[in-house]
Amino acid sequence: MAIISVINGPNLNMLGTREPGIYGAQTLADIEKSLTQLAEQHGHELRFFQSNAEHDLVNRVQQSKQHGVAIILLNPAAFTHTSVALRDAILASDTPFIELHLSNVHARESFRQHSYFSDIAKGVICGFGPKSYELALLATLPLIENTPRD
Ligand code: DQA
Repeated sequence: MAIISVINGPNLNMLGTREPGIYGAQTLADIEKSLTQLAEQHGHELRFFQSNAEHDLVNRVQQSKQHGVAIILLNPAAFTHTSVALRDAILASDTPFIELHLSNVHARESFRQHSYFSDIAKGVICGFGPKSYELALLATLPLIENTPRD
């Protein structure tokens, strides 16, 4: 049993109504529900978090070790392209993470093609809509096998 932390950045609370042609029709609550079930099926505990505020995301990442988090699934949303503070928090937390995006950021505007996270992530998953979350969770399984819980 391991603790998997899912951390979502700004505007992801608007999923369902936000540009559904790009981000799909599922809400963040829908994604949380199916991902929690998937984690439970594999014997792990999911902790799901979203904030529009950079400092709340930084605080959440900083708490990872103290909360016994084995791995983070991180969708930094717009902070992907701007936030040195969140990158530094991830590095300071010394917790492995997978970067994920609903949309294929490489097929969009040029400013979305730079990420402050990709070079320090275990891996990056993007472009599969809400399925990106499931794929990211499945990708963590071999990484967290036999992870002791604090
Ligand atoms: C996103 C992609 C980002 O460029 C964008 O700012 C988001 C969502 C995605 O999941 O596709 O808010 O991270």
